[in-house]
Amino acid sequence: MSEPSFYHVSEEWKRTKRCGEIRKSDVDTRIILAGWVKKVREFGELTFVDLWDRAGIIQLVSDAGDAELNALAKSLRAEDVIGCRGRVRNRPPDMINKDMKTGEVEVYIESLIIFNRSNVPPFNVSDKGKANEDLRLKYRYLDLRRDSMQKNLQLRHNLAMAARLFLSEEGFLDIETPMLVKRTPEGARDYLVPSRLHAGKFYALPQSPQLYKQILMVSGVDRYFQLARCMRDEDLRSDRQPEHTQIDIEMSFISEDDIIDLSERLMKRIFSEVCGVELNIPFPRMDYGRAMTDYGTDKPDIRTGLKIHDCTDIFGATRFKVFSSIIAEGGVIRGISFESGHGLSKSQIKKLEKRARENGAKGLVWIRVNGGVSSPIEAFLSDSEIAGLKKEFGLKEGQESLLLLVADTFKISSAALGAIRKWIGKSGAQDKKNEFQFVWINKFPLFFESEERGMEPAHHIFSMPLEEDMELLDKDPLKVRGCLYDLVCNGVELGSGSIRVHNRKLQEKLLSIIGIDEESAGEKFGFLLESFEYGAPPHGGIALGLDRLAMIMGGSNSIREYIAFPKTQNAVSLMDGAPSRVEKEVLRELHISLVKKESGK
Ligand code: AMO
Ligand code: AMP
Repeated sequence: MSEPSFYHVSEEWKRTKRCGEIRKSDVDTRIILAGWVKKVREFGELTFVDLWDRAGIIQLVSDAGDAELNALAKSLRAEDVIGCRGRVRNRPPDMINKDMKTGEVEVYIESLIIFNRSNVPPFNVSDKGKANEDLRLKYRYLDLRRDSMQKNLQLRHNLAMAARLFLSEEGFLDIETPMLVKRTPEGARDYLVPSRLHAGKFYALPQSPQLYKQILMVSGVDRYFQLARCMRDEDLRSDRQPEHTQIDIEMSFISEDDIIDLSERLMKRIFSEVCGVELNIPFPRMDYGRAMTDYGTDKPDIRTGLKIHDCTDIFGATRFKVFSSIIAEGGVIRGISFESGHGLSKSQIKKLEKRARENGAKGLVWIRVNGGVSSPIEAFLSDSEIAGLKKEFGLKEGQESLLLLVADTFKISSAALGAIRKWIGKSGAQDKKNEFQFVWINKFPLFFESEERGMEPAHHIFSMPLEEDMELLDKDPLKVRGCLYDLVCNGVELGSGSIRVHNRKLQEKLLSIIGIDEESAGEKFGFLLESFEYGAPPHGGIALGLDRLAMIMGGSNSIREYIAFPKTQNAVSLMDGAPSRVEKEVLRELHISLVKKESGK
């Protein structure tokens, strides 16, 4: 009953119930509880203590009956961790709290034990407090004690369990692949681990189990899955962490349709079990070209409708110089009809224009349509152009809308209008919350060309070209589409996969297109290429981002809320201080010497 605390939990203090589980049916029973103090209130002789554990909160009471015990109860502070023996009793009718699961009862304290006192917490450890994220991450153990974070951990657990169970039932084997792997370029930068035994050599942490899962197919595993940790040294965002988890899947003797069907049934099961949402499957499919044309992005949020329309022909004889000169240069005029944007103020429209400019556009023409039209280019608009726009966007007589037009190349107009659509969705203007709109985007180009790195694979270099585009490989590789598919939900890329190449010659050809000749292909991927020569079956797969799935299911926009110990946007762990310096001797053992950073760099 007194301080200092116990070091061990003895038999007499083994808890018999969880705080949040106590109900009316427990009245008059004696119980033992353990948990964290949330609040202490005094009413004269009476002391009320809110005690919390993962299951919920229960109210404890003590009175003047035992002065020493009452004094101890009064001494409790938020986040002290205690044990309590007591008797469950009904609350007086006027004290019943209908909002609490345990609101009809309370526990009359018979003895208390303080396992550990808490310092004054650096922020209010409840969902009412709004602590800054850095502080939350530094004291993550306290942050995770909040009900909402416990709920997030539970959601992630339920999600992982549902996925595991489903895939196991479908005949998939859960196989762990190594964390220390050979460095193979896969898009992002690698995290490297120096080898102590092999001076000057490094392991890489896997960006994904891609090559191992393919090799498992060569091994006849047929159906593989893993909740795989993937490490990538890339620029971080709210939906990107240096470490993330994938529901990683690979199957043999299948087509794209089989992977899509399996993924849809997996999603249906998870959403039903974890959040009680019944998804309609199959999900719509859209090829990459259509997605870019209609939505300006390969991860469209289709909840907002809002398709991009081509209006170039309408302005064939325009008097507006900006438009006519862009058309003359082979550019396009494209736009969207933002119906509920009709009432936007000039300054809000300015924000939209800023967004368009940030995405490469030279400006944004807006046309407010109702009975008449108003626009900064009103003076240049002819009646037939106005009629043409109304027809193109399906606006009926008198229907109001805000038309937003960008004149530029197809690519820039897509980027700018895609970004505007996103802003509109985020601003809630045309958003439908709590709805999950899935869409498959497929037939991506196999390659794209960047200024810094030349030809690069759009997904990864192990993906199969579409049958009908095979002959373009030699002639015009940028035109080749791949057997590639992404699963997108509400504008977030949830998963990505492909049918793989399983033939050495074809794989070498794809590698040569991105500038990896036979010799360096052998050096980098020799083991994979060789395995293809020992009966590699046709195969393919997908990886779904578990963190992103949890984020979408939980209705959040940051995956950090669903990762117990995430890193900041600077890839730092504020709680333990990773990354950190290491001792010189450790470096020496690893055959590493540090180069002094030049000043100014
Ligand atoms: P990809 O690189 O597209 O494919 O990743 C698959 C899915 O993983 C999630 N994801 C991430 N989540 C959080 N933080 C990150 N940094 C991050 N990077 C990716 C996304 C993404 O859709 N081996 C292939 C899959 C395959 O072809 O089977 C791969 O890793 O939701
Ligand atoms: P200016 O003639 O530059 O004053 O532009 C008049 C209007 O046209 C402004 O609202 C600009 O935002 C818009 N504008 C300029 N260039 C483009 C473009 N390429 N596409 C769409 N709107 C543009």
